Amino acid sequence: MVISKQYGPFLSRDKVVGREGAVRSTIMDGETGLMPGFRYGMEPVQVEAIIEYLKTVEKPKPPVSSWIAER
Ligand code: HEM
Repeated sequence: MVISKQYGPFLSRDKVVGREGAVRSTIMDGETGLMPGFRYGMEPVQVEAIIEYLKTVEKPKPPVSSWIAER
C-alpha cells in the first residue's frame, strides 16, 4: 500500500522490457535533480538483478479514487 504521495514512477515490466539500456543508465547515473544514481552503491550484477526483477512486475492497477475520477 502506498501511503505517501508518489514521487518517482511506478516501475513494472512494461517500463523495462525493450529499453533495458535506458533503465540501466537511470539506475547507474540517476536523473539530475530527481533521482540519485547508484553507480557507487551497487555492483553491476545487483543492477542487473533489479532489471530482471522489474521484468517480472505486473503493471499496478490504479487506485479506486483515480478510477472514479476517470469516469
Ligand atoms: C534502487 C533504487 C531505485 C531504482 C532501481 C530506481 C529505478 C528507476 C528507473 C528505472 C527509472 C526510470 C523509469 C523510466 O525510464 O521510465 C526511475 C525514475 C525515477 N526515479 Fe528512481 N529508482 C530508484 C531510487 C530512486 C530514489 C531514491 C528516488 C528519489 C529520491 C527516485 C526518483 C525517481 C524519479 C523522480 C524518477 C523519474 C525521473 C524522470 O522523470 O526523468 N528513484 N527510477
